[in-house]
Amino acid sequence: MGRASPFFVLLLSLGCFFVTYNLLTMVIHYQSAEGDQELISGRSSTRLYDSKRLSEPKRLFHVALTATDAMYSKWQCRVMYYWYKKMKDMEGSEMGGFTRVLHSGHPDNLMEEIPTFVVDPLPEGRDQGYIVLNRPWAFVQWLKKATIEEDYILMAEPDHIFVNPLPNLACGSDPAGFPFFYIKPSENEKVIRKFFLEDKGPLTAIDPIGNSPVIIQKSQLEKIAPIWMNVSLQMKDDPETEKAFGWVLEMYAYAIASALHGVRHILRKDFMIQPPWDLKVGKTFIIHYTYGCDYSLEGKLTYGKIGEWQFDKRSYLHNPPPRNLSLPPPGVPESVVTLVKMVNEATATIPGWEDGR
Ligand SMILES: *[C@@H]1O[C@H](CO)[C@@H](O)[C@H](O)[C@H]1NC(C)=O
Ligand SMILES: *[C@@H]1O[C@H](CO)[C@@H](O)[C@H](O)[C@H]1NC(C)=O
Repeated sequence: MGRASPFFVLLLSLGCFFVTYNLLTMVIHYQSAEGDQELISGRSSTRLYDSKRLSEPKRLFHVALTATDAMYSKWQCRVMYYWYKKMKDMEGSEMGGFTRVLHSGHPDNLMEEIPTFVVDPLPEGRDQGYIVLNRPWAFVQWLKKATIEEDYILMAEPDHIFVNPLPNLACGSDPAGFPFFYIKPSENEKVIRKFFLEDKGPLTAIDPIGNSPVIIQKSQLEKIAPIWMNVSLQMKDDPETEKAFGWVLEMYAYAIASALHGVRHILRKDFMIQPPWDLKVGKTFIIHYTYGCDYSLEGKLTYGKIGEWQFDKRSYLHNPPPRNLSLPPPGVPESVVTLVKMVNEATATIPGWEDGR
Protein backbone atom coordinates (compact mmCIF):
# COMPACT_ATOMS: atom_id res chain seq x y z
CA MET A 1 0.00 0.00 0.00
CA GLY A 2 1.42 3.42 -0.94
CA ARG A 3 0.65 6.70 0.73
CA ALA A 4 -2.90 7.97 0.48
CA SER A 5 -3.26 10.38 -2.38
CA PRO A 6 -3.58 14.07 -1.42
CA PHE A 7 -6.94 14.13 -3.13
CA PHE A 8 -8.23 11.35 -0.90
CA VAL A 9 -6.96 13.10 2.22
CA LEU A 10 -8.70 16.27 1.14
CA LEU A 11 -11.94 14.40 0.57
CA LEU A 12 -11.68 12.71 3.93
CA SER A 13 -11.13 15.93 5.82
CA LEU A 14 -13.90 17.69 3.94
CA GLY A 15 -16.22 14.81 4.84
CA CYS A 16 -15.25 15.08 8.49
CA PHE A 17 -15.84 18.80 8.39
CA PHE A 18 -19.39 18.37 7.07
CA VAL A 19 -20.25 15.67 9.57
CA THR A 20 -19.00 17.83 12.42
CA TYR A 21 -20.75 20.89 11.03
CA ASN A 22 -24.08 19.07 10.72
CA LEU A 23 -23.78 17.63 14.18
CA LEU A 24 -23.01 21.04 15.60
CA THR A 25 -25.92 22.76 13.91
CA MET A 26 -28.21 19.93 14.97
CA VAL A 27 -27.15 20.39 18.57
CA ILE A 28 -27.58 24.16 18.38
CA HIS A 29 -31.04 23.89 16.83
CA TYR A 30 -32.01 21.25 19.32
CA GLN A 31 -31.01 23.43 22.23
CA SER A 32 -32.69 26.55 20.97
CA ALA A 33 -35.97 24.70 20.46
CA GLU A 34 -35.79 22.94 23.77
CA GLY A 35 -36.75 25.95 25.84
CA ASP A 36 -40.14 26.13 24.18
CA GLN A 37 -41.33 22.67 24.90
CA GLU A 38 -42.79 22.61 28.40
CA LEU A 39 -46.33 22.91 27.17
CA ILE A 40 -46.23 20.20 24.58
CA SER A 41 -47.86 16.89 25.30
CA GLY A 42 -48.30 13.97 23.00
CA ARG A 43 -45.54 12.32 21.08
CA SER A 44 -42.03 12.78 22.25
CA SER A 45 -40.87 13.01 18.65
CA THR A 46 -42.52 16.46 18.43
CA ARG A 47 -39.39 17.96 19.91
CA LEU A 48 -37.18 16.60 17.19
CA TYR A 49 -39.57 17.67 14.45
CA ASP A 50 -39.68 21.20 15.81
CA SER A 51 -35.94 21.58 15.98
CA LYS A 52 -35.42 20.10 12.54
CA ARG A 53 -37.92 22.52 11.12
CA LEU A 54 -35.96 25.63 11.97
CA SER A 55 -33.71 25.14 8.99
CA GLU A 56 -36.41 24.14 6.52
CA PRO A 57 -38.45 26.29 4.15
CA LYS A 58 -41.88 27.47 5.28
CA ARG A 59 -44.72 24.99 5.05
CA LEU A 60 -47.67 27.32 4.67
CA PHE A 61 -51.15 26.41 5.78
CA HIS A 62 -54.40 27.98 4.67
CA VAL A 63 -56.61 29.33 7.44
CA ALA A 64 -60.19 28.15 6.89
CA LEU A 65 -62.86 29.63 9.10
CA THR A 66 -66.38 28.20 8.89
CA ALA A 67 -69.01 30.81 9.60
CA THR A 68 -72.60 31.94 9.12
CA ASP A 69 -74.07 35.30 8.19
CA ALA A 70 -75.53 35.82 11.69
CA MET A 71 -74.40 38.98 13.48
CA TYR A 72 -72.99 36.80 16.26
CA SER A 73 -70.73 34.97 13.80
CA LYS A 74 -69.82 38.08 11.81
CA TRP A 75 -68.33 40.21 14.57
CA GLN A 76 -66.24 37.29 15.77
CA CYS A 77 -64.96 36.69 12.23
CA ARG A 78 -63.96 40.35 11.92
CA VAL A 79 -61.92 40.19 15.14
CA MET A 80 -60.43 36.86 14.10
CA TYR A 81 -59.39 38.15 10.66
CA TYR A 82 -57.90 41.31 12.16
CA TRP A 83 -55.54 39.24 14.32
CA TYR A 84 -54.74 36.84 11.49
CA LYS A 85 -53.54 39.81 9.40
CA LYS A 86 -51.41 41.07 12.26
CA MET A 87 -49.74 37.73 12.99
CA LYS A 88 -49.41 36.41 9.45
CA ASP A 89 -46.12 38.06 8.53
CA MET A 90 -44.46 37.91 11.91
CA GLU A 91 -41.45 35.74 12.50
CA GLY A 92 -42.31 32.13 13.16
CA SER A 93 -45.62 32.28 11.32
CA GLU A 94 -46.38 29.76 8.59
CA MET A 95 -49.83 31.17 8.02
CA GLY A 96 -50.76 31.34 4.36
CA GLY A 97 -54.03 32.55 2.84
CA PHE A 98 -57.32 32.99 4.65
CA THR A 99 -60.85 32.00 3.73
CA ARG A 100 -64.08 32.47 5.57
CA VAL A 101 -66.14 29.50 4.40
CA LEU A 102 -69.59 31.00 4.66
CA HIS A 103 -72.19 28.24 4.89
CA SER A 104 -75.30 30.37 4.73
CA GLY A 105 -75.65 29.93 0.98
CA HIS A 106 -75.54 33.66 0.11
CA PRO A 107 -72.95 36.42 0.12
CA ASP A 108 -73.24 38.83 3.04
CA ASN A 109 -71.93 42.34 3.74
CA LEU A 110 -68.44 41.22 4.80
CA MET A 111 -67.41 39.94 1.37
CA GLU A 112 -65.13 42.93 0.79
CA GLU A 113 -63.62 42.96 4.24
CA ILE A 114 -62.80 39.26 4.58
CA PRO A 115 -61.83 36.78 1.81
CA THR A 116 -64.93 34.59 1.66
CA PHE A 117 -66.09 31.48 -0.16
CA VAL A 118 -69.84 30.91 -0.13
CA VAL A 119 -71.11 27.33 0.15
CA ASP A 120 -74.55 25.82 0.61
CA PRO A 121 -76.03 24.93 3.95
CA LEU A 122 -77.46 21.45 4.46
CA PRO A 123 -80.97 21.04 3.08
CA GLU A 124 -83.59 22.86 5.15
CA GLY A 125 -84.15 21.16 8.49
CA ARG A 126 -81.36 18.59 8.06
CA ASP A 127 -79.25 20.10 10.84
CA GLN A 128 -82.24 19.91 13.26
CA GLY A 129 -81.21 23.27 14.67
CA TYR A 130 -77.64 22.12 15.33
CA ILE A 131 -75.93 24.65 13.06
CA VAL A 132 -72.42 23.25 13.40
CA LEU A 133 -73.57 20.14 11.53
CA ASN A 134 -73.07 22.35 8.49
CA ARG A 135 -69.32 22.53 9.05
CA PRO A 136 -68.29 19.19 7.56
CA TRP A 137 -70.52 19.79 4.52
CA ALA A 138 -68.99 23.25 4.16
CA PHE A 139 -65.50 21.75 4.11
CA VAL A 140 -66.51 19.09 1.59
CA GLN A 141 -67.80 21.75 -0.81
CA TRP A 142 -64.95 24.20 -0.29
CA LEU A 143 -62.25 21.56 -0.79
CA LYS A 144 -63.93 20.40 -3.97
CA LYS A 145 -64.61 23.79 -5.55
CA ALA A 146 -61.98 26.25 -4.34
CA THR A 147 -58.41 26.64 -5.53
CA ILE A 148 -56.24 26.31 -2.45
CA GLU A 149 -52.54 26.96 -2.94
CA GLU A 150 -51.25 25.68 0.38
CA ASP A 151 -50.70 21.98 1.11
CA TYR A 152 -52.03 22.30 4.64
CA ILE A 153 -55.27 23.59 6.14
CA LEU A 154 -55.97 25.03 9.58
CA MET A 155 -59.58 24.48 10.54
CA ALA A 156 -60.45 27.46 12.71
CA GLU A 157 -63.54 28.98 14.32
CA PRO A 158 -64.78 32.54 14.70
CA ASP A 159 -64.08 32.64 18.44
CA HIS A 160 -60.37 32.02 17.90
CA ILE A 161 -57.89 34.87 18.29
CA PHE A 162 -54.30 34.38 17.14
CA VAL A 163 -52.25 35.52 20.09
CA ASN A 164 -48.85 34.53 18.63
CA PRO A 165 -47.66 33.81 15.08
CA LEU A 166 -48.72 30.24 14.36
CA PRO A 167 -46.24 27.81 12.77
CA ASN A 168 -47.33 24.67 10.96
CA LEU A 169 -47.64 22.28 13.89
CA ALA A 170 -48.29 19.29 11.63
CA CYS A 171 -45.39 17.04 10.66
CA GLY A 172 -45.70 15.58 7.22
CA SER A 173 -48.80 13.44 7.24
CA ASP A 174 -49.20 13.68 11.03
CA PRO A 175 -51.75 16.46 11.60
CA ALA A 176 -51.77 18.49 14.81
CA GLY A 177 -54.82 18.90 17.04
CA PHE A 178 -55.77 20.26 20.43
CA PRO A 179 -56.65 17.70 23.12
CA PHE A 180 -60.03 18.54 24.68
CA PHE A 181 -60.41 17.18 28.19
CA TYR A 182 -64.10 16.41 27.63
CA ILE A 183 -63.65 14.27 24.51
CA LYS A 184 -63.35 10.78 25.99
CA PRO A 185 -63.79 8.03 23.42
CA SER A 186 -63.08 5.21 25.89
CA GLU A 187 -65.89 6.37 28.21
CA ASN A 188 -68.45 6.24 25.43
CA GLU A 189 -67.80 2.78 24.09
CA LYS A 190 -71.40 1.80 23.41
CA VAL A 191 -72.24 4.70 21.10
CA ILE A 192 -68.80 5.02 19.54
CA ARG A 193 -68.82 1.37 18.50
CA LYS A 194 -71.86 2.07 16.34
CA PHE A 195 -69.61 4.15 14.09
CA PHE A 196 -66.18 2.68 14.79
CA LEU A 197 -66.62 -1.09 14.58
CA GLU A 198 -64.40 -3.52 16.51
CA ASP A 199 -62.42 -4.43 13.41
CA LYS A 200 -61.29 -0.81 13.06
CA GLY A 201 -59.19 -1.08 16.19
CA PRO A 202 -59.25 -0.12 19.86
CA LEU A 203 -60.99 3.03 21.08
CA THR A 204 -57.57 4.43 21.91
CA ALA A 205 -57.08 4.82 18.15
CA ILE A 206 -59.50 7.77 18.39
CA ASP A 207 -57.85 11.04 19.38
CA PRO A 208 -59.49 13.27 22.06
CA ILE A 209 -59.99 16.13 19.61
CA GLY A 210 -62.51 18.01 17.51
CA ASN A 211 -62.00 19.30 13.99
CA SER A 212 -60.80 22.65 15.26
CA PRO A 213 -58.15 23.67 15.79
CA VAL A 214 -56.45 21.13 13.54
CA ILE A 215 -53.68 21.63 10.99
CA ILE A 216 -53.79 18.86 8.44
CA GLN A 217 -52.61 18.08 4.92
CA LYS A 218 -55.21 19.15 2.38
CA SER A 219 -55.06 15.74 0.68
CA GLN A 220 -55.91 14.03 3.98
CA LEU A 221 -58.76 16.39 4.77
CA GLU A 222 -60.21 15.79 1.31
CA LYS A 223 -60.53 12.12 2.24
CA ILE A 224 -61.70 12.61 5.80
CA ALA A 225 -64.28 15.40 5.29
CA PRO A 226 -66.92 13.32 3.43
CA ILE A 227 -66.78 10.60 6.11
CA TRP A 228 -66.86 13.24 8.84
CA MET A 229 -70.03 14.59 7.26
CA ASN A 230 -71.66 11.18 7.01
CA VAL A 231 -70.71 10.17 10.53
CA SER A 232 -72.01 13.44 11.97
CA LEU A 233 -75.34 13.12 10.16
CA GLN A 234 -75.74 9.51 11.24
CA MET A 235 -74.90 10.44 14.82
CA LYS A 236 -77.42 13.26 14.81
CA ASP A 237 -80.08 10.83 13.56
CA ASP A 238 -79.35 8.32 16.30
CA PRO A 239 -81.17 9.40 19.49
CA GLU A 240 -78.81 7.53 21.81
CA THR A 241 -75.72 9.15 20.31
CA GLU A 242 -77.37 12.54 20.15
CA LYS A 243 -78.23 12.25 23.84
CA ALA A 244 -74.73 11.10 24.81
CA PHE A 245 -72.81 13.75 22.87
CA GLY A 246 -75.11 16.79 22.61
CA TRP A 247 -73.23 19.90 21.52
CA VAL A 248 -69.93 18.06 21.04
CA LEU A 249 -71.37 15.51 18.62
CA GLU A 250 -69.70 17.02 15.59
CA MET A 251 -66.33 16.97 17.39
CA TYR A 252 -66.65 13.25 18.05
CA ALA A 253 -67.65 12.79 14.41
CA TYR A 254 -64.35 14.32 13.24
CA ALA A 255 -62.32 12.32 15.77
CA ILE A 256 -63.96 9.10 14.55
CA ALA A 257 -63.76 9.97 10.85
CA SER A 258 -60.02 10.63 11.09
CA ALA A 259 -59.48 7.43 13.09
CA LEU A 260 -61.39 5.49 10.41
CA HIS A 261 -58.63 6.67 8.05
CA GLY A 262 -55.94 5.57 10.48
CA VAL A 263 -54.88 9.20 10.98
CA ARG A 264 -53.40 10.10 14.36
CA HIS A 265 -52.94 13.70 15.52
CA ILE A 266 -50.01 15.18 17.35
CA LEU A 267 -51.69 16.53 20.48
CA ARG A 268 -50.58 20.08 21.19
CA LYS A 269 -51.79 21.55 24.47
CA ASP A 270 -50.08 24.78 23.52
CA PHE A 271 -52.22 25.08 20.38
CA MET A 272 -54.74 27.17 22.33
CA ILE A 273 -55.86 28.39 25.71
CA GLN A 274 -59.40 28.70 26.97
CA PRO A 275 -59.95 31.51 29.45
CA PRO A 276 -60.93 31.64 32.22
CA TRP A 277 -59.54 28.14 32.86
CA ASP A 278 -56.11 28.73 31.38
CA LEU A 279 -54.46 31.62 33.14
CA LYS A 280 -51.42 32.48 31.06
CA VAL A 281 -50.82 33.12 27.37
CA GLY A 282 -47.11 32.23 27.36
CA LYS A 283 -46.00 30.65 24.11
CA THR A 284 -49.43 29.44 23.07
CA PHE A 285 -51.02 30.35 19.76
CA ILE A 286 -54.78 30.81 19.96
CA ILE A 287 -57.17 32.23 22.56
CA HIS A 288 -60.50 30.41 22.32
CA TYR A 289 -63.15 32.51 24.05
CA THR A 290 -65.93 30.01 24.24
CA TYR A 291 -66.43 30.25 28.02
CA GLY A 292 -67.88 33.27 29.77
CA CYS A 293 -65.46 35.13 32.03
CA ASP A 294 -67.17 36.36 35.19
CA TYR A 295 -65.34 37.98 38.08
CA SER A 296 -66.11 39.89 41.24
CA LEU A 297 -64.57 43.33 41.59
CA GLU A 298 -61.99 41.66 43.84
CA GLY A 299 -60.88 39.63 40.83
CA LYS A 300 -62.44 36.37 42.01
CA LEU A 301 -63.85 33.96 39.40
CA THR A 302 -67.61 33.55 39.80
CA TYR A 303 -68.08 31.04 36.98
CA GLY A 304 -71.73 30.22 36.30
CA LYS A 305 -72.88 33.31 38.17
CA ILE A 306 -72.93 36.67 36.38
CA GLY A 307 -69.90 38.58 37.55
CA GLU A 308 -69.68 42.22 38.55
CA TRP A 309 -67.22 42.31 35.69
CA GLN A 310 -67.96 40.08 32.71
CA PHE A 311 -66.85 39.22 29.22
CA ASP A 312 -69.00 36.61 27.50
CA LYS A 313 -69.40 36.35 23.74
CA ARG A 314 -73.02 35.36 24.31
CA SER A 315 -73.76 38.87 25.57
CA TYR A 316 -73.42 39.93 21.93
CA LEU A 317 -75.81 37.66 20.04
CA HIS A 318 -77.51 40.45 18.11
CA ASN A 319 -75.06 43.33 18.26
CA PRO A 320 -71.29 43.45 18.15
CA PRO A 321 -69.54 44.32 21.40
CA PRO A 322 -69.06 48.08 21.74
CA ARG A 323 -65.60 49.57 21.33
CA ASN A 324 -63.45 50.02 24.43
CA LEU A 325 -64.86 47.32 26.71
CA SER A 326 -63.86 47.91 30.31
CA LEU A 327 -60.76 46.02 31.36
CA PRO A 328 -61.13 43.45 34.14
CA PRO A 329 -60.47 44.43 37.76
CA PRO A 330 -57.03 43.78 39.28
CA GLY A 331 -56.32 40.16 40.10
CA VAL A 332 -57.93 38.71 36.97
CA PRO A 333 -55.64 36.30 35.08
CA GLU A 334 -53.44 37.51 32.25
CA SER A 335 -55.30 35.34 29.71
CA VAL A 336 -58.56 37.21 30.31
CA VAL A 337 -56.91 40.64 30.34
CA THR A 338 -55.14 39.84 27.06
CA LEU A 339 -58.37 38.63 25.49
CA VAL A 340 -60.25 41.84 26.30
CA LYS A 341 -57.34 44.01 25.18
CA MET A 342 -57.15 42.14 21.89
CA VAL A 343 -60.88 42.48 21.29
CA ASN A 344 -60.59 46.18 22.09
CA GLU A 345 -57.69 46.69 19.71
CA ALA A 346 -59.57 44.99 16.90
CA THR A 347 -62.80 46.91 17.45
CA ALA A 348 -60.92 50.20 17.75
CA THR A 349 -59.07 49.60 14.48
CA ILE A 350 -61.57 47.89 12.17
CA PRO A 351 -63.21 50.61 10.05
CA GLY A 352 -66.93 50.95 10.60
CA TRP A 353 -67.00 48.59 13.57
CA GLU A 354 -70.26 49.86 14.99
CA ASP A 355 -72.18 50.39 11.77
CA GLY A 356 -74.25 47.29 12.31
CA ARG A 357 -72.44 44.60 10.31
C1 LIG B 1 -72.22 9.21 2.65
O1 LIG B 1 -73.55 8.78 2.75
C2 LIG B 1 -74.27 8.83 1.52
C3 LIG B 1 -75.71 8.52 1.80
O2 LIG B 1 -75.87 7.49 2.73
C4 LIG B 1 -73.64 7.86 0.53
O3 LIG B 1 -74.30 7.93 -0.71
C5 LIG B 1 -72.16 8.26 0.34
O4 LIG B 1 -71.51 7.32 -0.49
C6 LIG B 1 -71.46 8.33 1.67
N1 LIG B 1 -70.13 8.90 1.45
C7 LIG B 1 -69.06 8.35 1.92
C8 LIG B 1 -67.78 9.04 1.57
O5 LIG B 1 -69.06 7.36 2.62
C1 LIG C 1 -61.92 53.74 27.17
O1 LIG C 1 -62.60 53.69 28.40
C2 LIG C 1 -61.90 54.20 29.52
C3 LIG C 1 -62.75 54.02 30.75
O2 LIG C 1 -63.15 52.66 30.85
C4 LIG C 1 -61.57 55.65 29.29
O3 LIG C 1 -60.80 56.14 30.35
C5 LIG C 1 -60.81 55.81 27.98
O4 LIG C 1 -60.59 57.16 27.70
C6 LIG C 1 -61.55 55.15 26.84
N1 LIG C 1 -60.75 55.18 25.63
C7 LIG C 1 -61.22 55.53 24.44
C8 LIG C 1 -60.24 55.52 23.32
O5 LIG C 1 -62.38 55.84 24.26
